[in-house]
Amino acid sequence: MDMKGKTALVTGASRGIGPHIAAALAGRGMNLVLTARSGSELEAVAAEQRKLGVRVLTVVSDLRDADARTLLIGACEREFGGVDVLVNNAGGDPTREFHEMSLEENLAILELNLSAPIALSHLALPAMLSRRGGHIINISSMAGRVSFPFSEAYAAAKDGLIGFTRVLRNDYRARGATASVLILGAIGGAGQGQRAMDAMKLPASPFMAPVSTVAKAILRAIDQDKAEIVVMPGPGRLMRALMDFFPGMGPWMNQQFGVNQTMREVMDFKRPNKLAASKSA
Ligand SMILES: NC(=O)c1ccc[n+]([C@@H]2O[C@H](COP(=O)([O-])OP(=O)(O)OC[C@H]3O[C@@H](n4cnc5c(N)ncnc54)[C@H](OP(=O)(O)O)[C@@H]3O)[C@@H](O)[C@H]2O)c1
Repeated sequence: MDMKGKTALVTGASRGIGPHIAAALAGRGMNLVLTARSGSELEAVAAEQRKLGVRVLTVVSDLRDADARTLLIGACEREFGGVDVLVNNAGGDPTREFHEMSLEENLAILELNLSAPIALSHLALPAMLSRRGGHIINISSMAGRVSFPFSEAYAAAKDGLIGFTRVLRNDYRARGATASVLILGAIGGAGQGQRAMDAMKLPASPFMAPVSTVAKAILRAIDQDKAEIVVMPGPGRLMRALMDFFPGMGPWMNQQFGVNQTMREVMDFKRPNKLAASKSA
């Protein structure tokens, strides 16, 4: 796809990895629709991207709300005539024990990380098909593949997103609307993992891929119409394949390399009273 002058909707664009994705697409001349719940952060990101000469619309919305999703796609259609590239990036995980969260809290994780991307794809796809052009990019995670601690619902959602993307690509690519999934390992320089490490004053980890590699992967997914890209240091695809072939390897590695212990510390640290104390210090 020639991106120049086309429109990208980037969810989760207020902080973390989203602004880097937005910048990469604006760098190719794409107009942007940026969405998240935090209006002032979104405006700051939009102001940066407008300096590149592209048009940017911001829409404040909570993507767990079905009406908000419909309004968002309606705003894209009114302002730009539709969405050419949809990047389902909004997501995240509270890092809490599965059984300590209520069922509703677990299901809310699924709503944000799985139902919202499916719903936005469902809303954006008809116009892509009638134009015979469009690309849906879903941001998934290695969480399920590596049995990442304290992420049951999140891992289920992110694995679900991989299956969803594969079938979407199979069914619609020949009709002009394609789909890709980026499967991220731990990302450094921005995002939820980096924030937790900064708050806990943990040193940089060689197991984290820089956020610039996510931005590059987005462009590669579009330029080369890639089905799946694994973003992590070293041979990411091989690592994912090994984890699938030896499902006991993730829990073993988590134990051997102290991931269980570190994530338990992160979970303890994120408990509301400790986080508040660290912010006021
Ligand atoms: N960082 C990593 O190491 C890593 C690893 C694997 C996968 N990922 C995936 O990469 C994506 C981006 O993660 P990140 O690290 O950049 O996370 P982040 O820094 O926490 O940013 C998450 C973004 O999603 C938005 N968001 C959260 N809840 C929302 C809601 N209910 N409605 C609308 N927007 C909402 C947030 O904005 P508001 O709070 O303003 O709404 C924010 O813009 C996620 O899908 C995540 O699962 C990240």
